[in-house]
Amino acid sequence: MSTKRIAPSILAADFANLQRDIEMVNHSEADWFHIDIMDGVFVPNISFGMPVLKAISKHATKTIDVHLMIVDPDRYIQTFADLGANVLTVHYEACPHLHRTLQAIKAAGMKAGVALNPHTNINLLEDVIKDIDLVCIMSVNPGFGGQSFIENTYDKVRNLKALITEKGAATEIEIDGGVNDQNAKDLIDAGADVLVAGSFVFKSENPTATIANLKKIVS
Ligand code: DX5
Ligand code: ZN
Repeated sequence: MSTKRIAPSILAADFANLQRDIEMVNHSEADWFHIDIMDGVFVPNISFGMPVLKAISKHATKTIDVHLMIVDPDRYIQTFADLGANVLTVHYEACPHLHRTLQAIKAAGMKAGVALNPHTNINLLEDVIKDIDLVCIMSVNPGFGGQSFIENTYDKVRNLKALITEKGAATEIEIDGGVNDQNAKDLIDAGADVLVAGSFVFKSENPTATIANLKKIVS
């Protein structure tokens, strides 16, 4: 059995039928729920906040992977733990005291993730890589679903994988943005462990079958 995971991004779900879409993910071959929280400051878009996450948590039966695209995420670490987040990912670019933030996330009982914008070099994580459970490599500029995949991502994944191996870390690599059936296999071959997919899943005719197909590709 492959340990590679598929994480549908709820940002692309139908919010008027949120429970239906959550149940679809629950009963699909998907592994995680990917939840995008945007504050309109760190990124030029506002997604949804605590009440929506609370509603998702109530119905979701799989790991909840929360991606914070917000400034000063330290303020909300305990809140997200209380709302049911299992993995909490903050942006490198939003955390001047990243080491402290990572410890706080773990102390609150969650796995600690760090997301990197497309321009942020993976080597900046060298001194904290052993403290990170998950690195989320942004393969689009964060803020919106449905954007095109940035090709340079493959090199970043390979470089990060080499750094993780060199440091003897257990860090997993997640890819977020523009993932589809054309790039999924190459991303896994480059070293990725978790693939986030929003539009490709939810805008497809049969999301359950699309997830199953992605899962097959990465296995
Ligand atoms: C972008 C978000 C992504 C987004 C992915 O800022 O972090 O998780 O929902 O959506 P697609 O798969 O449509 O690029
Ligand atoms: Zn995301």
